[in-house]
Amino acid sequence: MTQLTKPADRTWFERGGRHTLECRIQDFGPALENLDLSTYSAIDIGCAEGDITGWLAKRFRQVDALEYMDACYTKAHTRFKDNPNITVRQGDISTFPLSKDYDFVFFLGVLHFFTSEEIRQRLLRYCLDHAQHACFVRTAIHDFHVRDQRNLARLEHFVTLETLHSLAGDEFDIHVVDNGYLVTTERAVGDLVVYRRRSYNNPLPLLSEIYSTSAV
Ligand SMILES: C[S@@+](CC[C@H](N)C(=O)[O-])C[C@H]1O[C@@H](n2cnc3c(N)ncnc32)[C@H](O)[C@@H]1O
Repeated sequence: MTQLTKPADRTWFERGGRHTLECRIQDFGPALENLDLSTYSAIDIGCAEGDITGWLAKRFRQVDALEYMDACYTKAHTRFKDNPNITVRQGDISTFPLSKDYDFVFFLGVLHFFTSEEIRQRLLRYCLDHAQHACFVRTAIHDFHVRDQRNLARLEHFVTLETLHSLAGDEFDIHVVDNGYLVTTERAVGDLVVYRRRSYNNPLPLLSEIYSTSAV
């Protein structure tokens, strides 16, 4: 099991809304760090300035990144323009046609930008459809108990757990990761949801083989 540097009971907000790369990578890093990903492709949708893109590009054969905002796109594009295995494009994922499938899709911190439930569901399905092996989604999950406790008013566009599960059907194993631990869905908010496609040749092991379950 991976050694963690932070205790499991720190909340999303106590960690500054996960504004640091270290916190975000702590959740999905353990799933990937022992895999040889050098033959696989990935896309980082909503890459901002490209922090996660850069981390992925050190491991994957090819990383595409998509960013909507001018300022972020310009920074990411400038940062990686000489990097042969990163392609940064500007576009809105709700209208951008992905021209191919990717082994791994990263859709982190973007879904709850969309005010329409119908569009959120369509986009999640779109990402799942383009993920050959796994889709990593970080979003705000609707949970009244946690929402009341943490005053999450500013996160308006929640995705319900029911939605997250119903869209994946029987095609994926679904895991929720918080602070490097697998968590029960009751306390999942702003956490990482990993959809692992149930195919016999999936390079990503079941996450229960990698992460401990949080005792909290
Ligand atoms: C909260 S940041 C997350 C950045 C990064 N993925 C991470 O997890 O650290 C969300 C990013 O998604 C971008 N974004 C928002 N709506 C988008 C859209 N429709 N298409 C592509 N990117 C979008 C924003 O501009 C912003 O850079």
